[in-house]
Amino acid sequence: MSSSQKSFYLTTPIYYVNDAPHIGHAYTTVAGDVLTRWHRQKGESVWFLTGTDEHGQKVLNTATKNNVSPQDWCDRLVEDAWKPVWKSLNIANDDFIRTTEPRHMERVQRFLSDLKDKGFIYSGKYEGPYCIGCEEFKLPGDLIEGKCPIHSTPVENVSEENWFFKLSHFVPALIEHYKANPDSCQPASARNEVLAFLEGGVQDLSISRSTFDWGIPVPWDTKQVVYVWFDALLNYATAVGVGDDPTSEGGKKFAQTWPCDVHLVGKDILRFHAVIWPAMLMAAGIEVPLKVFAHGWLLVGGEKMSKSKLTGIAPADITDHFGVDAFRYYFLRAIPFGQDGSFSWEDMNARYTSELANDFGNLASRLIAMIEKYCDGAIPAVPATAHDSILESALAETVSKADVAMCALDFQGGINAIMDFCKRVNGYVTEKEPWVVAKDETRKAELDAILYNTAESIRALAVLLHPIMPATTQTLWSSLGIAQAIESQKISDVARWGQLKPGSVVTKGAVLFPRLEEKQ
Ligand code: ME8
Ligand code: MG
Repeated sequence: MSSSQKSFYLTTPIYYVNDAPHIGHAYTTVAGDVLTRWHRQKGESVWFLTGTDEHGQKVLNTATKNNVSPQDWCDRLVEDAWKPVWKSLNIANDDFIRTTEPRHMERVQRFLSDLKDKGFIYSGKYEGPYCIGCEEFKLPGDLIEGKCPIHSTPVENVSEENWFFKLSHFVPALIEHYKANPDSCQPASARNEVLAFLEGGVQDLSISRSTFDWGIPVPWDTKQVVYVWFDALLNYATAVGVGDDPTSEGGKKFAQTWPCDVHLVGKDILRFHAVIWPAMLMAAGIEVPLKVFAHGWLLVGGEKMSKSKLTGIAPADITDHFGVDAFRYYFLRAIPFGQDGSFSWEDMNARYTSELANDFGNLASRLIAMIEKYCDGAIPAVPATAHDSILESALAETVSKADVAMCALDFQGGINAIMDFCKRVNGYVTEKEPWVVAKDETRKAELDAILYNTAESIRALAVLLHPIMPATTQTLWSSLGIAQAIESQKISDVARWGQLKPGSVVTKGAVLFPRLEEKQ
């Protein structure tokens, strides 16, 4: 791989550190992790960024309420909550950006000065409602009984001399962009919402605040700090060296990653990403991202689960019972990506038992037990004519279907394709009845063929499910006794039949999906 090859670059939102992560944040981050692991498994160069949004009134107020400085508050939450949760969920991000880091603050200041030099920033007076929960300037018409409809909290009335960004100037170019590139904002409902919003007319944006100082100073007017969203959106570019000399490390990184392939966000922050962010880039003369994908919400009692409303469920509440891999699997499998969904303990329990423990886990443990019993624990040698061509072609079809779906962020479709193949392999074993064939010594070649074909199918399942359930599939991989690392297995090569080496020794590993304790 040459170092100049463009990386597949994916970002998650950078989350506010007003509290610890809940399963809504984990939903986005796991989806990003699964997609980037899938692309790595395709042999691509990948860059996966997540991080934290640390400035603004929301974080400042939380820190103040807890009697600590905002910087201490952020340091503590990032180190004790955010980073450990991502580690426990096996998130393989390549970088983690905090908006209080100098590398970010310096590049934001430089970007802003550049926009001012280009004539897209002017001073003016801002008057209007502001929701601290959203960190957003609202229009009076957005409110319900004077409250933010998302946070159900009263808004603040802001009246300040601020700096403004000529957002309205970019509306025609944005409309043209979304019409010409329908895939650049997905799902279609999100794109339609953005287009309707743009066509309804957009005002210029206040991009600084003067009544508190927890933010990045406006370089030419240090009594003001940069509006938190203007600061935060830039993380996607500052983390990869935007504006750096092209020959420097940052400049090279930027060339290798930009334009960003996918900004993964929840639909709550779609407009920031699909309107303000590309306009900022257009103003700077930088390419806009290739795709913004806005997924749906995890709901509690019909409302968006939220930190502010204290309805968040911690990932550990679920992983302690079901394990990390079942957590990673469940939400992407159960909810069509792009739609809202509710977490249900009963549904998760049912899918764990039928799909993971029975269909997948039992298939693997039965196969290994049979190879131990009938083949002295070694993969049997079979002639190429013994390969099951029906399974083989079903697998080839599965791989292409799953790859198309995963790359289109249809995680449910991708996982379904893989799990359908798993069902098919179970059907093969049931139909071939190796335990009956084993009773007849003259049918040894037939028995070996059944076990070999089943083992090959399980090898493929382990690779295809690896991005989704990295730890469990690694355990399975080790018990299949394959010398190469599972990460080195390419999606494009999975369907090639006959990769297992005859004679390699299988071992009974840990149970992949143990029976769940009865929950009180
Ligand atoms: O908005 N269901 O941060 P945030 C699904 N700092 N996803 C959810 C969710 C739910 N109930 N709740 C949160 C911010 N999320 C800004 C972002 S980016 C430049 C700045 C996920 O802590 C989802 O991805 O409020 C949502 O968009 C994000 O967390 C909001 O996190
Ligand atoms: Mg939020």
